[in-house]
Amino acid sequence: MKNRKKLKLGAVLEGVGWNYMGWRHPEMPADASENIDHYVKQAEIAETAKFDTLFLIDVSHVGPGNIPHYLSFFEGVSLMSALSMATKNIGLSATIASSYGDPYTAARQILSLDKISKGRASLNLITSNPGGLVNFSRGHLSKNDLYPMQKEFMEIVLGLWDTYEDDAFIRDKASGVFLDPNKMHTLNYRGNYFSVDGPLSISRSAQGRPVLFTAGTSSNMMENAAKYTDAALIHNDSLAEIVEMATELKRRVASEGRSPEDFVVAVMENPIVGRTEKEAEEKFKELEILMPHYRIPKPRFFGSAEKVADQVQEWYEAGAMDLFLIKQEYPTGLQDFADLVVPILQDRGIFRTEYESNTLRGNLELPIPESRYARR
Ligand SMILES: Cc1cc2nc3c(=O)[nH]c(=O)nc-3n(C[C@H](O)[C@H](O)[C@H](O)COP(=O)(O)O)c2cc1C
Repeated sequence: MKNRKKLKLGAVLEGVGWNYMGWRHPEMPADASENIDHYVKQAEIAETAKFDTLFLIDVSHVGPGNIPHYLSFFEGVSLMSALSMATKNIGLSATIASSYGDPYTAARQILSLDKISKGRASLNLITSNPGGLVNFSRGHLSKNDLYPMQKEFMEIVLGLWDTYEDDAFIRDKASGVFLDPNKMHTLNYRGNYFSVDGPLSISRSAQGRPVLFTAGTSSNMMENAAKYTDAALIHNDSLAEIVEMATELKRRVASEGRSPEDFVVAVMENPIVGRTEKEAEEKFKELEILMPHYRIPKPRFFGSAEKVADQVQEWYEAGAMDLFLIKQEYPTGLQDFADLVVPILQDRGIFRTEYESNTLRGNLELPIPESRYARR
C-alpha cells in the first residue's frame, strides 16, 4: 500500500438530479440544472471540502422522453468556464462524447479551459450511447463505429495538445519574435472518421495538458483507456466486480508500458448520509414520498456518517477506486458528505486537509506529461 495515492474526491454537478421528481423537494431549486448560482454554491461546497474536481456528466443523446434534468441543463465546457472564475484550486471536468463532438473543437475548448483555470481542466471523453446521433448529422453511424471513432478522437486530441513545445511562444517585443516555428508541430492525422492537419491555436498549459478521462465498462473502453487516458470512470454491481475491473484496467495500463500508479480509477455513487442511521432513513423517505409510482433504489453508500466513511475506506483500501465521485441524490447530499464524512476521512489520514497543488494533475498525483517533441 506504500505507493497508494491518497483518496481523491469529486463532485458530480447534476442540477436537479437524475430522477423524475427530485426537483419538487423543498430544498432543491426547481431550475437548478440551468441555475449558475446553484452550481457556484455546489462548487464552493466542494472546494471548501478540498475536493479534487467538479465533474459534469453529460447527455448528448437527447430525445423528448429524457428525464427533466436532461432536457434543461448547461453544456459542460461553458459551465466549467464560468466556475473557473468562481474557484481557485478545484479541478473542472467537462464531458464530451467522441460520437457527437469534433476533435479539433474539443481540443481547443478544453485546452482553453485549462489555461483560463491555470491548469485545472479535464476532458471526460466518452462514447455515449448512439441514441441521438441524428442531432449531430451522424445518423449513418452505428454502435460498432463508436469505439474505433473514440480511438481516433483521442489520438487527435492528444496530438493537438502537443502542437507546441513549452517554450514555443517567445513573445519578445525587442526582437519582434513571437513564435519559434521549429517548436510548433502540425499533426496531419488521417483516419476513417476524422482528418485533422493542425496546428492547434493555443499553447501548452501549466499542467502540460488537460487530464483525460473516459467512462464505460467494456473491453473496448479499457483498451482505449489503457493506451490514451489518465483516468477512467467505471461501474459494476458488486464491490468485488469493481475491484476486478479496476485491477484489470491497471494491468492493461501496465501492459502498455505505462505506470499504473499514474492512472486514476474513478467510481461514482450517490451517498445519502445522516448524523445517525435514522436521519439518513428520513432523508430517503422524503425522496420516496416525491416518487410514489417509482421505487427508487436505496443508495449503496447509505446511513450514518461513520458507516459511510467505513464504506468509503473499505472500497478505497480494496483497490476499487482512487477517485470517489459523489452524485447528489438528496438536495443537500454534497453538503452532507462534505460536513459529515470528509472530516472522518481526514481524521483517518485517507483524505487531504489542504490542496497539495494548484493544478488538477498535481492534486491527482499525476505527472506532467512531456510534449512528444520535447528536446533534451
Ligand atoms: C460510469 C459511467 C459513466 C458514464 N457517463 C456517461 C455520460 O456522462 N454521458 C453519456 O452520454 N454516457 C455516459 N456513459 C455511457 C458510456 O459512454 C458508454 O456509451 C456506455 O457505457 C457503453 O459503453 P461500454 O460498453 O464501454 O460500457 C457512462 C458509462 C459509465 C459506465
